[in-house]
Amino acid sequence: MCGIIGIVGVEPVADRLIDSLKRLEYRGYDSAGVAAMVDGHVERRRAQGKIRALEAVLAQEPLAGTVGIGHTRWATHGAPAERNAHPHTAGRVTLVHNGIIENYAELREELRAEGRSFQSDTDTEVIAHLLDRTLETIPDPLKALKATLDRLTGAYALGILVQGEKDLVMGARRGSPLVVGHGRGEMFIGSDALAVGPFTNRIVYLDEGDFVAIDHQGARIFDAAGQPVTRPERMVSPAAALVEKGNYRHFMEKEIHDQPEACQHTLSAYIDPVTAAAKAPGVDFAKVDKLQIVACGTASYAGMIARYLFERLADLPCEVEIASEFRYRRPALAPGALALAVSQSGETADTLAALRWCKERGIQTAALVNNHESTMAREADVLFPTHAGPEIGVASTKAFTSQVAALTALAVAAARQRGRIDAAEEARLTTLLMEVPRLIAQSIGAEDEIKAIAADIARARDVLYLGRGAMYPLALEGALKLKEISYIHAEGYAAGELKHGPIALVDEATPIIVIAPSDELFEKTASNMSEVIARGGRIVMITDEAGARHAPEGVRVVLAPACDPVIAPLVFAAPIQLLAYYVAVQKGADVDQPRNLAKSVTVE
Ligand code: M6R
Repeated sequence: MCGIIGIVGVEPVADRLIDSLKRLEYRGYDSAGVAAMVDGHVERRRAQGKIRALEAVLAQEPLAGTVGIGHTRWATHGAPAERNAHPHTAGRVTLVHNGIIENYAELREELRAEGRSFQSDTDTEVIAHLLDRTLETIPDPLKALKATLDRLTGAYALGILVQGEKDLVMGARRGSPLVVGHGRGEMFIGSDALAVGPFTNRIVYLDEGDFVAIDHQGARIFDAAGQPVTRPERMVSPAAALVEKGNYRHFMEKEIHDQPEACQHTLSAYIDPVTAAAKAPGVDFAKVDKLQIVACGTASYAGMIARYLFERLADLPCEVEIASEFRYRRPALAPGALALAVSQSGETADTLAALRWCKERGIQTAALVNNHESTMAREADVLFPTHAGPEIGVASTKAFTSQVAALTALAVAAARQRGRIDAAEEARLTTLLMEVPRLIAQSIGAEDEIKAIAADIARARDVLYLGRGAMYPLALEGALKLKEISYIHAEGYAAGELKHGPIALVDEATPIIVIAPSDELFEKTASNMSEVIARGGRIVMITDEAGARHAPEGVRVVLAPACDPVIAPLVFAAPIQLLAYYVAVQKGADVDQPRNLAKSVTVE
């Protein structure tokens, strides 16, 4: 998960950029760089590896100037190498970028045809060239930036210097966050409030599609249409910076939108971008006979999704059990088993007790947790961290997808360690995983459609969720999300179970949410939908374009991006979370603190 800082200051900028980048180290990175305006010219320093490597470069070749930008990079396009580190320069433009430009290949061909040459393997360099070319015909930097942004497809947060513009840093955001910081006679931009935390606590969160120019006079913000706008300023203490709502109404809404970054950050701990290898630090799955996952609530559904992957990819027998049942069942676990506790908080009483039960019996234990200082993290033999950042909403969202992302990468690592896939297949699977942040951002794009559907669902007394394969646990998760924040009764079923009882509930008053990507099971799920329609049932189907083309008549469709089945649970999670969220908002419920629920359940 890359980090950005931009400063229009009055003090030497290099040390301040480094100070800020150090605060962004928590996001994970493999190279870093800074650039500064020196007498109207832009100079940059970059290094592969840790920030101390960049500091060593700066010690050799100091960087003057009071206006500059900095970046920590986690490789997506192109290996972690100095030539791929940001900032990237093309002509008059030097910039840093978080996110992924989807149409970079076609833009690069267009620019190459005009005689431009590229120094890196990144998607980012294309933006620098595009803006530099646009400046040739549109000399106003902000107008040129707007014209450039209009050509980009994908996600970005940008920090930009333009040669000759001594007192200017421009920024833009779509899909990746960017904040503006107001200092005393100085201005800042950053990828989050922590980035600008050393300099100011007066923060403005840019809205989706906004772009901005900061100079010594202040900030000029424009919306996606290029109209000047004002966005509210907030006071954010450094300690609170990690847990700010930004411009979102609820933490849950923010955390749903945080998922591309949360998953990217988590995946960076499990995938080596150079070798495309998946990592399982601390465990050799070749020596594991059985994986026993224990967890509660949403975390147990993440575990259920993982079972499909560990068994299918790694041929590793896997059982998933709700921790509150496991601990009293006295399960027969052989010494070759690995017990894996999955938990956001790392403190859930039943999961912790199950972990301890296994440990006491000499079973190897691992904890996949988001709170790395938690009891589970400390007591398990092996810690598998997720890097979702603090999750405040009681309804788990980004912690869930981060768990699924980490578990999917671990299943790939297990498959390789157990000789079930070769290096080429491992690379194919990890490449798929690296696409997940972008695809989640795309699935969040269905938000307006989901909001409209939520108004209808909010009137229901009962809702059914159906899915097959790994979409079955997602159906359970969808039902749990809806229950806990909207207080509407909801149940999740495997679609094939419909005929064995739940179909008796089908009538026009009971909406049915079907999660059905166009995979090998789609036809069967489509038959189940026809059975529901024949009985007057109302269906909302979450599917991709191919699925939508084959939707039975009368089905309302929410579109998610097409993807490989291995990553489908990650890509299809956001629509069900958004549906629960907007139903709860529609009903005026307390979304972040639903009645009777606690974020961390430390009692039985
Ligand atoms: O902290 P944990 O992941 O161990 O918590 C487990 C469950 O209590 C939790 O997932 C709960 O189901 C959430 N409120 C669901 O949104």
